[in-house]
Amino acid sequence: MILSKSLSLWSILCILSLLNSLVFILASPVKKRAYVPETKTFCLHLYKAKLSPDGFERVVWTVNGTYPGPTLVVTKGDRLVIHVINNLGVSTSIHFHGFFQRGTNWYDGVPGQTQCPIPNNTTFIYNFTVPDQSGTFWYHSHHLAQYVDGVLGAIIVKDPDDPYQNDYDEEVVILLSDWYHNETFTLLNYYLSPASKGLEPRPDNGLINGRNIYNCKWAPVSYKCIDNAGLSKFNFVPGKRYRLRVINTSALLSFTFSIDEHAMDVIEVEGMMTKRHTIHRLIINVAQRYSVIVTADKLVSNFWMRADLQIKCYYAIGIEHLNSYVKAIVHYEGANHLDPTTKGWAENLNRLNNCIDLNTSDLKPFFPENVPAKSDQTIYLNVSFEKDASNVDRGVVNGSTYAVDVDNPTINQILFKNQTLFQPNQNVIGHFNTSQVIDIVVYNGVTGEHPFHLHGHTFWVLGSGPVGTKPDFSKLNIFDPIKRDTATIPPEGWIVIRFEANNPGIWAFHCHIEWHVEAGLVAQFIELPHELRKLKPPADWEQLCIKSPNPYNDLILQSEQRTIIDDMRNVDTLIKNLGWNLGELEFNWNYLLVYFLNIF
Ligand code: C2O
Repeated sequence: MILSKSLSLWSILCILSLLNSLVFILASPVKKRAYVPETKTFCLHLYKAKLSPDGFERVVWTVNGTYPGPTLVVTKGDRLVIHVINNLGVSTSIHFHGFFQRGTNWYDGVPGQTQCPIPNNTTFIYNFTVPDQSGTFWYHSHHLAQYVDGVLGAIIVKDPDDPYQNDYDEEVVILLSDWYHNETFTLLNYYLSPASKGLEPRPDNGLINGRNIYNCKWAPVSYKCIDNAGLSKFNFVPGKRYRLRVINTSALLSFTFSIDEHAMDVIEVEGMMTKRHTIHRLIINVAQRYSVIVTADKLVSNFWMRADLQIKCYYAIGIEHLNSYVKAIVHYEGANHLDPTTKGWAENLNRLNNCIDLNTSDLKPFFPENVPAKSDQTIYLNVSFEKDASNVDRGVVNGSTYAVDVDNPTINQILFKNQTLFQPNQNVIGHFNTSQVIDIVVYNGVTGEHPFHLHGHTFWVLGSGPVGTKPDFSKLNIFDPIKRDTATIPPEGWIVIRFEANNPGIWAFHCHIEWHVEAGLVAQFIELPHELRKLKPPADWEQLCIKSPNPYNDLILQSEQRTIIDDMRNVDTLIKNLGWNLGELEFNWNYLLVYFLNIF
């Protein structure tokens, strides 16, 4: 059997899994009352392609040829089987941001902590369930700064018992991001040198769902750039109610998000449903997510959707050649196709200037929770920046810069070596042998904000405060705080969070500003190592740390890298023309047809 040039071995894997899910579909009962969980299979094919999200052409590290990557949609209870086909030319790994990964710590996707990277020209399958989570999530490379080059996308976990399901008619996913015209390799080289003086790389633009316009006069000659590349457009049907799922996938900057003349009701914070809370502007920091309900109840017309980059939180004097007023168009069905002429919300929010989260005391959990009344242990952290021996500004957690050891992940040291002591530069800030309630008090020693993310958990935000304030431990909110997985530590401010350390595994705790991750602002927790050792990691995962022999070597495509890229683009275009989206591997007869046509 000769495989045609345009369909290669990697697709066989996907086909096999398709057949698997077909069997499952046939086997499922036709009429179901309660939701019967399914296995949802996805293929994320990573390769570089030239794209021009804002008109400026650059090499983008794509998922299935697009930026952002495909949105994965599943339902609470489902199993996700995700084939990551790595043709990036370098190793990679994928993290599923916000998922607990209970019992599957090895699929958390953090090189140096929970896995060895996936080599180039290799396929690795992540396989985990979401038994007790729903809401708005995302996936992204957790290796180097690859997600800033494009390796990311949204994950939506639907809840069959969503308390708001009758309060909206449609769902829209909105990814916001700062955007760089250089690849991160170049940016990091400069940032992690004395010359940068610790100043983070400056974004060139901001994007809404991967689109914006750019003033090509600012582009260096010899680069391809087209003016007016076009904005994202959201079509609203008059009278309908929309659940917007907003995700900030930036490297550095937070946004304030709004739609002219349309108030929004917050209903979800990172998987936690909240009581309705009406706002005009949504402050959303890096890696955070919110759902808001917006009603198309204005006169048929066009309105600006705004995502203002909060440059003041990082650059006091602004950035040359950056239009921080990022826009998209909300187009009511029946309106003309001219640009909107609407004005932004008039009032100025103080919070906008303070670089702090949306006021968490306004947000209340929809379902009351039992927050543990006190913690078993409090961990105090000072996050800051200091110059290292080579005069480079490094992130420090309690004085220590994290150094990633990609080929010797912490999980291996726990599973295979019974290790209990770790190098200081591993920043193991907690090692819990029993289930405990943990408080973390983080003080921010610098004038930049830090959106901190905890893997494998959500945490209650008990309190936080801006510069000039100190935590008053008697005034923390243990009554009805919201729970999330990424929260901002304001400039020179503080935060107190509480979580239950009861999930066996190694869990990263880090600033989600990708530049700060690379500068070392990373720590990790070790939870219930005895329980972790009772679990059996899959053989193909262990294999990632064994360079040779690697059974996945037979997936290596023999042609040269450049050719691979072109070939893969053809496949994706072919498939897209047939209306089949590689990201959403629902069964589709077209695909089988194409597949067999190519074989015979
Ligand atoms: Cu979305 Cu460790 O990150």
